[in-house]
Amino acid sequence: MSNPHEIEHKPHKARKEMSRRQFLAYTLGGTTAFMAAGAALPMIRFAVDPLLQKKGGETFVKVVEVAKITNEPQEFNFELTRFDGWYEDKATMTAWVRKDENNNIYALSPICKHLGCTVDWNGSASHKDQYFCQCHGAHYTKDGKQQAVALAPLDDYNIKIENGFVYLGQVVPNKRV
Ligand code: FES
Repeated sequence: MSNPHEIEHKPHKARKEMSRRQFLAYTLGGTTAFMAAGAALPMIRFAVDPLLQKKGGETFVKVVEVAKITNEPQEFNFELTRFDGWYEDKATMTAWVRKDENNNIYALSPICKHLGCTVDWNGSASHKDQYFCQCHGAHYTKDGKQQAVALAPLDDYNIKIENGFVYLGQVVPNKRV
């Protein structure tokens, strides 16, 4: 039994009180962080938006009827929509299209692989039945293989044949020659 004259000392928990200064600091800090996040999130979203877009398949453009393609290369122009991050633009493209002896159709880019001038089919009397670049004299065979000056063949277009029409897509390195 405890002595009634003894004062019982119970350990009491130290009460932590928040000072007014701390309260204000926490409140202001929280509000500032909330506002900063509100301002930053749209900017982050804008920055990464192209990465969040679903990647569609390659775009192909209808260029010409298959029936019009000959063994002799013919020049065709078409408009291709290009996407670069947030930007979308239309570019007028040129392709030299022909079919080979096995009736395989392919399309060549006219951009010279030396320094980027434009080649012409039969552009030089001294290089008959070849693509010729007037800038520095590069020339290429019918299927785009380089003969002089340039170190690589003319690029190909990705090609798709559908319902009797030739569709062209992106320019890709020529792996046929
Ligand atoms: S750019 Fe065509 S030969 Fe130089």
